[in-house]
Amino acid sequence: MNKTPIGIFDSGYGGLTILNEIRKLLPEYDYVYLGDNARSPYGSRSCEVVYKFTKQAVDTLFDLGCPLVILACNTASAKALRTIQQLDLPQSGDPSRRVLGVIRPTVEVIEKLSVGGHVGVLATQGTVSSHSYQIEINKLFPDVKVTEEACPLWVPLVETGESESPGADYFVRKHLEQLIAKDDSIDTIILGCTHYPLLIPKMKRLLTPTIKLVPQGEIVAKSLTDYLERHPEMDKRLSRNGSIRYLTTESCDKFKDLASVFLSDDIKAEHINID
Ligand code: DGL
Repeated sequence: MNKTPIGIFDSGYGGLTILNEIRKLLPEYDYVYLGDNARSPYGSRSCEVVYKFTKQAVDTLFDLGCPLVILACNTASAKALRTIQQLDLPQSGDPSRRVLGVIRPTVEVIEKLSVGGHVGVLATQGTVSSHSYQIEINKLFPDVKVTEEACPLWVPLVETGESESPGADYFVRKHLEQLIAKDDSIDTIILGCTHYPLLIPKMKRLLTPTIKLVPQGEIVAKSLTDYLERHPEMDKRLSRNGSIRYLTTESCDKFKDLASVFLSDDIKAEHINID
């Protein structure tokens, strides 16, 4: 069976929140999920390192036959996507392959979601210091006021299964308060990190109910559906057997254990070296 799956890449587990939504909307396609768990988190790493690791992951997914790769990671989308799209892809063996990220689709819908035009962004240190959300939102919607807040401890809280624990309240409250203190008119908050949807129940308890939380999974899934409709030449290259492979640069058992925080299915993981 000749497979040309859609590649989904994340630094670790968080991209599984995006994959889940993509598979709900597009269950018939084949997918390969690659988590660079051995080298995650990327959130505190430099641009050079995030670019190098992301490029290795994208090349691996291309070698596995994926003509289309989604960077289901905000940090990789912020720090590596543009260079890969503009410099690497045109020079690659097959320039018709495509790499898409998660920031642009989120930005495109934000004006519709924010009634008052005051948007908060919660993300990793790397995504916040790139100011990618602010830059991209203001390119499309110059009147929207964007306020960013880095939440460096939220990824470890989620990955250690502490999302619902009372101890996590301190760190979640701290960053929500710091964000709102910078702009108390914020009416919409982008969860600009793939792990943060797991903290939604806690955030909802700590925020005033009028503030809208925007996770990205469904937005990215709809945007991919739309992309495939607009690009039949890509759509017809993709195989459809409804299959999924999980690849990790860490140990398979470790991946399987922690992936259960993000997935309800019992999965089989395969180890892969990408450097
Ligand atoms: N997946 C990353 C993101 O969305 C978070 C985890 C990391 O820092 O590697 O930014």
